[in-house]
Amino acid sequence: MGAGVKPPLRLAIAGLGTVGAGVVRLLQQNGNLLVVLAAVSARDRARDRGIDVAAARWFDDATAMAADPDIDIVVELIGGAEGSARGVVETALEHGKPVVTANKALMARHGTALALRAEEKGAGLAFEAAVAGGIPVIKTLREGLAANTFTRIYGILNGTCNYILTTMRESRRDFASVLAEAQKLGYAEADPGFDIDGIDAAHKLAILSSVAFGSAVDFDGIHVEGIRHISALDIEFAADLGYRIKLLGLARLTERGIEQRVHPCMVPRATPIAHVDGVFNAVVAEGDFAGRVLLQGRGAGAEPTASAVVADLLDIAAERRTPTFAVPASALRKLPASPMLHHEGAYYVRLMVFDRPGVIADITAALRDEQVSLESMIQRGRAPGEAVPVVLTTHITEEAAMRRALDRIAGLDTVLEPPRMIRIEDL
Ligand SMILES: NC(=O)c1ccc[n+]([C@@H]2O[C@H](COP(=O)([O-])OP(=O)(O)OC[C@H]3O[C@@H](n4cnc5c(N)ncnc54)[C@H](OP(=O)(O)O)[C@@H]3O)[C@@H](O)[C@H]2O)c1
Repeated sequence: MGAGVKPPLRLAIAGLGTVGAGVVRLLQQNGNLLVVLAAVSARDRARDRGIDVAAARWFDDATAMAADPDIDIVVELIGGAEGSARGVVETALEHGKPVVTANKALMARHGTALALRAEEKGAGLAFEAAVAGGIPVIKTLREGLAANTFTRIYGILNGTCNYILTTMRESRRDFASVLAEAQKLGYAEADPGFDIDGIDAAHKLAILSSVAFGSAVDFDGIHVEGIRHISALDIEFAADLGYRIKLLGLARLTERGIEQRVHPCMVPRATPIAHVDGVFNAVVAEGDFAGRVLLQGRGAGAEPTASAVVADLLDIAAERRTPTFAVPASALRKLPASPMLHHEGAYYVRLMVFDRPGVIADITAALRDEQVSLESMIQRGRAPGEAVPVVLTTHITEEAAMRRALDRIAGLDTVLEPPRMIRIEDL
């Protein structure tokens, strides 16, 4: 090697599952001279992963691999906020080695502390793959849109939920049957709670918010609701009203602090994000100078996620440095979480009521008493003595008032099921 040409960085990969194997394949297919795969670690050495890692050293202990003096850079693809994944990342940083991770749970829980440690040690910590898989959203916010103050950021951050909601709409089937099918096809885990209860999307939102607003990562400050209670009937009413139902993560600054929320939303059908369907993800950033920027692509899977991991590796190998969360970790602002009860927006509400005289008057009285003003009301069908759906949409109102009104409505003896409420987003 000639004078002035640096030797390639010696890379260690901890975790050879879906993403780890994808990264190995990508490096072998589109390899470059900046990094060389020097070591790997997983639990089961004998497992056939369909990849050739014979030339790399094998470690049973991924943490020992991270500390090994012959390793320059560590890629963590084990997963989980604690345990081995955290140990590997902390050990690498302690040794001043740059880390690339796809681990959203880890970054959402410990991102600020890890970024501080990385910066103290002068080592990079990169996590593009942790948010929206193959979509280069972190780089876009941190670099391409660096000159902007963000007014809002939101997106479809979980492909499993988007697949389920899309399939429910297209096939007019209910949640449980579509979830079962998604599990059979491998789009949903056997234990789907992480995805369908909104936790995975919240992990990603916590990271995105920090990059967009320069705030310390605050996963616990996120209001999280999943999609289990979305019914085929709500999806049908949404269509009638000109909306589609999407699970969104949204963040913005308010005078009370940072509002971060993940929940099903009524999204106007005319907006581009309403048409991001199936397993696709999308992120919208609203910058004060750039305006609205929409990024769309594959949010998971071996290849897209590997694409993001290797892009981070190339940045580190080429010594392209930016602070972990766009500003130095020590300068991240500790913003209070803006309480959800102060959220202001429009609401969709579906009630199942006994079709009896006076029932609508009781419902509208509860809304009036809480100063919730109605935009529309649909009563579908007439079936005296049987339950019929009544759907309301409201003008902008405060969440606390809406919830008080719904509590009162839920207590009416003509209202059969708990009211279903979905927030209508002005996008
Ligand atoms: N899958 C995706 O599409 C996707 C997308 C974006 C981000 N991510 C993130 O990427 C990370 C990896 O996800 P994945 O889907 O690739 O997971 P996965 O398929 O379950 O793979 C995890 C890997 O970690 C290994 N492992 C577990 N404990 C270990 C330990 N103590 N020491 C060394 N290796 C250990 C496993 O070894 P064995 O194979 O021997 O069991 C396995 O190879 C997670 O943080 C995930 O959130 C995944």
